[in-house]
Order: sequence, then C-alpha cells, then structure tokens
Amino acid sequence: MRVGVIGVGHVGLVTGAALAELGHEVVAMDLDVAKIELLRSGKTPFYEPELDELIARQTATGRLLFRSEPAEAVGDAEVLFICVGRPTTAAGDASLTAVEAVGRDVAKHATPGLVIAEKSTVPPGTADRLRLTIARERPGLAFSVVANPEFLREGHAVQDTLRPDRIVVGSDDPGGFEAMRKLYGPLVGLGIPLIETDARTAELSKLASNAFLATKISFANALGRVAELTGADVVRITEVMGADMRIGPAFLRAGLGFGGYCLPKDTQTLERIAERAGYDFGLLRAVMLVNEDAVAAVAAKVEEAVWNLEGKRIALLGLAFKSGTDDVRSSPALILARRFADEGAVVVGHDPMAAAEARAAIPELEVADDPYEAITGAHCVVICTEWPEYRELDLDRVCELAAYPIVVDGRNVLDPDRAEIAGLTYLPVGRPARRGEDVVG
Ligand code: UDX
Repeated sequence: MRVGVIGVGHVGLVTGAALAELGHEVVAMDLDVAKIELLRSGKTPFYEPELDELIARQTATGRLLFRSEPAEAVGDAEVLFICVGRPTTAAGDASLTAVEAVGRDVAKHATPGLVIAEKSTVPPGTADRLRLTIARERPGLAFSVVANPEFLREGHAVQDTLRPDRIVVGSDDPGGFEAMRKLYGPLVGLGIPLIETDARTAELSKLASNAFLATKISFANALGRVAELTGADVVRITEVMGADMRIGPAFLRAGLGFGGYCLPKDTQTLERIAERAGYDFGLLRAVMLVNEDAVAAVAAKVEEAVWNLEGKRIALLGLAFKSGTDDVRSSPALILARRFADEGAVVVGHDPMAAAEARAAIPELEVADDPYEAITGAHCVVICTEWPEYRELDLDRVCELAAYPIVVDGRNVLDPDRAEIAGLTYLPVGRPARRGEDVVG
C-alpha cells in the first residue's frame, strides 16, 4: 500500500521504516528540513539499535523516501500516519496543536478515500476532533480516521514494531478497519493479534497501558521503602511476586524510578483527563509522587554517606533514562546531577551513549570517557542506569580508584556479595546495605 508518515521522531521513523520492510511504499515527512537532510544523507538523528540498517536497506529498495513538504506525504497516500509530537502544556494537559495542523494539511492535499491513522499518543476524542477539523476544512471529502496507538520501547523499537505483542485499531468506520487489516496483513499472518475497538477505547488503551506500567514500577519502589525499613529484600520479593502468572515479572524492578518521554507524561495526562472528566484518579497521583520520592531517596543515601556535598566529587554511572538509548528526557540521573551540582558537588558522569546529550542539559556536568575515569577520586559512585557494563565493573578497581569506597546502586545491578568482598560500602535500593571498612555517615 502507499503510506505517508508525518513526523520522523522515534515513533514516525521506526513506523515508516518498518512498514517499508513489510513491503509498503512509504513517504516519511517532517517540517524539520535539517532532520530530513540528515536522513537523506544516510544518518539517523538518534540512536536506536537496528534502525540504521533497516533504514539503509529500505531506502536502497526505494520503498522509503524522506520529504519535507506535507503534500508529498499526503497526496498519494492510502494510509497516512500522524506521528507528530504531543507535548504537555504548562498546566499539564496534552497539547494537540501539531495534530490539528496535520488535520489541516490533510484537508488540503488528501486523495478521497484516505485513511488517517493516529500513532501519536492522544486523549480520547482526538479522532473525532480530527474528523471534524478535516470535514470543516474540506466539506465532502471521503476519508476515515483510525486510532492505531504505538507501544514501542526505545532501545527495542524495531523489534517492538516488527513483532508487537498486539496491534490495536480503533475506529467508528468500517473502511478504516479494512485498510488497517490489509496494511498489517503480514504481521497478522504471523499470528500477532489485531484488536479492533472504537476510536476512544483505542486512544485510552495506550495511556492506560503506560500508566499501568508506571504503577507497577511505583508499587515496586514503595515496596522497596518498606523492605528497607523492615530488613527485607525487594529484589527477592518482586521475584516471588513475578513468579505468579497473574502478576508477571516485568516492570517490577525497584530503583530510581521511571523516566523517559512517555511514562511520566502519559501517567500525568491520564490523571488530568480523568480529573477533567470528573473522576479523581488519586492512584496515579500517588504513582507520580512515589516516582519523585524514589529519586529523593537515592539522593538522601548519597548525602547520608558522604556528609556535606560541597566540594565532594560524585560519579554518576549512566545518564540516559534507561539503557539502550541516548535519550536523557526526564532521566533520574539528570535530576540527581542537577541537585548535587546545586549543592556544590563536582558531578562527573559516564554514559556509553548519552554523555553529549546529558552535558547539553546540565552544563556543570563533567563527562568521562570510561566509568573508571569517572570513579577516580569520587567520594561516592551512584549507578543510575542499568547499562550491562556496570554489572561487570571490576569492584577491586573501584575500591582503589575512589576517594571513598561507597557505591549507591540506584538500579540494583551489582551483586551485593561481590561488593562486600571488594570492601565497598554498598547501598542498594530496597535491600540490605553492606557496610565496608570505610563507613562514612
Ligand atoms: C515506554 C513503554 O514501555 C512503551 O510501550 C511506550 O510505547 C513508550 O513508553 P520507554 O519510554 O522506551 O517505553 O521505556 P521503558 O522501557 O518502558 O522504561 C521506562 C522507565 O521505567 C525507564 O526509566 C526504566 O529504567 C524504568 N523502569 C522500567 C524501572 O524503573 N523499573 C522497571 O521494572 C522497568
């Protein structure tokens, strides 16, 4: 099928490349000319495993084109994906200005019969609004609107798109369903379920999924606090919980909490939507508070361990909001960096992917090329991101290089026994601390 994609951020770029891989003819468009030029020169604007190869393969087949004029993506398309950003307003509501602007472009350039698919995460009722905007701008145009939310994770985006757990299509129009069944035929043929709902249900299901994942994480973090206070181990507790098929082991890792572009934003958006509709979703407010508290609790451990922060050197291992990405948006590591720098500490960070992005966000942050360089002379080492290489750190070397042998493990990646044998004061989250020889605080 002929597919247009508006917006080549994480979702749009991966969606476009994946649909080309499934055999469709894709024109991906963005108003950001510099970004389109970059893509046309064979470069990807952000790091995502497997994506460079996928784009190179599909541009070589001629099935994936990059353009900067809306008419070029909309004009010929049978299905048009809206993948524009959906920021949050100062009041915490979803801002849908970009989505409305796409609606007007569609009205200007669409061929009759076009199916418009919302990929951006939007509040319920957006498909109806979009339909009304297009109808007002171009009365008489035949078109359908479907909600087709995207569930990809950064760092796994290509596989999540080519092998999703489920595909959701929400519409109030049979023509929309038919086109989407045809588009996703190759995936449905592999046994991937395609769930059809009304548009509002599909829109809300994406926000609900992300808010529920956030709730699982905050539950684990709140439990971690109780475990610390009662001498239990949250890692083992969540292992026990996760072995129950009804609960499942995913998203129960206690630590510094959830960051990134989606979980914090979508949890807040769902809470606001509920409030505006007349329901007090206090559970989600608690989820957000527990998440803030998770970072504050790790900061308190550092402060307790090193005493005054002024003039102390703090090494942050991991700056991205999670491993496998160079994204630092709402990264707990950067919240810590800001806080420690404001208290007069020298903050040195390491990240295999996100060092430049972190430095741009926090100019006082020093960045090191390898973790041992960051650790050298540090009064406290804080593990902020679960990059696999931190799991394998040479802990004897950490002890030798650090000014004080203290590790606060904000992601519970180290083996406590190994840390103890190396002589570290080891302070994980939600599990018993191990005190080395050099107890400070
Ligand atoms: C999320 C959703 O998973 C995805 O379906 C949606 O499309 C976009 O938002 P992403 O933002 O890429 O994906 O990150 P995710 O892997 O969900 O992790 C989010 C955050 O939660 C990270 O900061 C991670 O470190 C944290 N996390 C995750 C935990 O603290 N504990 C866990 O058990 C799992």
